Amino acid sequence: MKIFKLYILLSITLLAMNSAVAQTRATGATSVHKIILDTDPGIDDAAAIAIALTDDQFDVKLLTTVAGNVSADKTCANALKLVEFFGKQHSVPVAAGATAPLLKPFEDASYVHGESGMPGWDFPTIQTRPLAKHAVEAMRDVLLTANEPLTLVLTGAYTNAALLFRTYPEVKANIARIVVMGGCLGYGNMSSAAEFNIFTDPHAAKIVFESGLPIVMIGLDITMKALLTNANIARLPTLNETGKMLHSLISWYKDESEGGKPMHDVNTLFYLAHPEAFTITDYWVDVVTDGFAAGETVADIRRVSHNGATNVSVATDIDAAAFNEWYMAEIAKIKK
Ligand code: BDR
Ligand code: CA
Repeated sequence: MKIFKLYILLSITLLAMNSAVAQTRATGATSVHKIILDTDPGIDDAAAIAIALTDDQFDVKLLTTVAGNVSADKTCANALKLVEFFGKQHSVPVAAGATAPLLKPFEDASYVHGESGMPGWDFPTIQTRPLAKHAVEAMRDVLLTANEPLTLVLTGAYTNAALLFRTYPEVKANIARIVVMGGCLGYGNMSSAAEFNIFTDPHAAKIVFESGLPIVMIGLDITMKALLTNANIARLPTLNETGKMLHSLISWYKDESEGGKPMHDVNTLFYLAHPEAFTITDYWVDVVTDGFAAGETVADIRRVSHNGATNVSVATDIDAAAFNEWYMAEIAKIKK
């Protein structure tokens, strides 16, 4: 009798699995990305968090924060504001992390993101507390108890990730890959050579890039190609409350270019959702930690070092129109 029951249960499970697969094929829906999002909101971080928290394609197991665009207390407060804005305070835990880079003194980017990091919108007073443990401990706990390897998405300085790998290297077995916004193969935004996230903590970036894990790098040269157009920015408030909120933040955002504004960090999620919109080339990428070029990501384009080995899959092109279309559709479908 027991075996018969087990057989029925197994058949029902298999039927359900088959119908889910058939449904996926029919609707074109893609698999769910289980992620830990480590971030420093920050206006473009907020633009990314809005999607990560609302699109079912992303299952955010943990939101961790780091000092970067503004100080660590502010990035954590901003993450909590967004979690509450989207009503996710009971399902998405937030943990505060590193308050300064590993070795360099901390310098914020409030000249780009405003004093608070998310200016222009009157968020209610935060009711939710971050976890009572450091982001690095929270990451370890989530990774070691996950029933399948997770994707680590890094959109701030990589300090938390570097500390995690140095303190608890055993977590690497449960990380499927890392997708980072940061670095560049061209001009930087902090110096001729360095992009902000890597410049802020180059020693951490070096540890992450040498972690041996699969890494996808969406650099500044790519995010500057996929500006959210001024026409689309102007259309945001017509979409919904989220569009209004994002429009207010983006209006304060001092990172702008001809024709639009770069939503740097959003590109990590766009990559997960639409890898076909990117051209990817594998390189060995070294991080310069000191001196005039500190923070530079040097790709071995001539393939003369490391015996031809590669450590990073680097985005080398992006479909900017597809990015714009996807971003606007993502915001439009948010039910707030
Ligand atoms: C990166 O730096 C930060 O200011 C942005 O949030 C983004 O992560 C772009 O260089
Ligand atoms: Ca960021």
